[in-house]
Amino acid sequence: MRRSMKKKPLPPSTQAAAVITGAGSGIGRSFAYEVARRGGSVLCVDIDAERAEQVASNLRALGNHAIAQQCDVGDQAQMESLAENAESLLGRPVTLLINNAGVGLGGPIGEVSLEDWHWCMNVNLWGAIHGCHFFAPALRDLGYGGIINVASAAAFGSAPEMTAYNVTKAGVLALSETLSSELAGTGVQVTALCPTVVPTNIVENGRLPERRRDFASSAMTRFALTNADQVARQTLNALDRGDLYMLPQIDGRIAWRLKRLTPRLYARAIGEAYRILAD
Ligand SMILES: NC(=O)c1ccc[n+]([C@@H]2O[C@H](COP(=O)([O-])OP(=O)(O)OC[C@H]3O[C@@H](n4cnc5c(N)ncnc54)[C@H](O)[C@@H]3O)[C@@H](O)[C@H]2O)c1
Repeated sequence: MRRSMKKKPLPPSTQAAAVITGAGSGIGRSFAYEVARRGGSVLCVDIDAERAEQVASNLRALGNHAIAQQCDVGDQAQMESLAENAESLLGRPVTLLINNAGVGLGGPIGEVSLEDWHWCMNVNLWGAIHGCHFFAPALRDLGYGGIINVASAAAFGSAPEMTAYNVTKAGVLALSETLSSELAGTGVQVTALCPTVVPTNIVENGRLPERRRDFASSAMTRFALTNADQVARQTLNALDRGDLYMLPQIDGRIAWRLKRLTPRLYARAIGEAYRILAD
């Protein structure tokens, strides 16, 4: 009897043709290096052209195929054009999309301006929506690959004075969960990354009241249980395993369970903890 000689597809993080948004800094940069280390080609997308080029040229110097592309993920036309050009820039169809670009916004409700709300919604939520809208159909038609959406533990953590940011990340999580069921069985895996604190430039690049800046900056080192390189590696492994949720740190996993187990106690505890730590 002859056995079928059909080759098993590679895990989606291996030899990928990847589009990574916000690749110029922090977690996005770590994703770019890790995808390249796994033999992939990388389109390094960032609103900051210089940052994107620096990462791409470093990767090229290491012998990888990497190209920089300036693009504002919140801009529909720019994202449409990115999707149209990605295949020719990478030299083959996109197999991995990492919707990572994001910005931080903090401050009490009513004090955060609506202009800042729109800015945060536009980058964090619309950026991921644009990515999925313009890239997911081609991945589905290809029948192979992955989408990583960088949400946050903020999607469920309900930390005070982060309303806008929390709302955008809850949206990214819902987007990922829905896409995961919609694309089930198509060969396209979806993973939502939900980290707590990871030391990056998010505070520097973000908008928050002056009186909270020192607390936020010190929290980036004081409460960080992991770094961006580890997060990128673990998340690509999670994608390969077929995991929808990636919660890389123990504090995030505890918050996730506690909130489901006892939501009222959780809300009180997180509010109290914030007041003690931030004031
Ligand atoms: N650092 C953390 O503690 C943490 C925790 C949870 C989730 N996240 C998420 O991780 C992702 C990456 O953030 P980071 O911490 O690496 O921050 P970062 O500021 O170091 O990097 C973000 C990158 O995104 C780019 N960017 C910003 N706006 C953009 C736009 N409109 N279009 C394209 N690129 C844009 C920036 O130029 C920057 O290079 C974000 O979605 C963030 O919300 C971060």
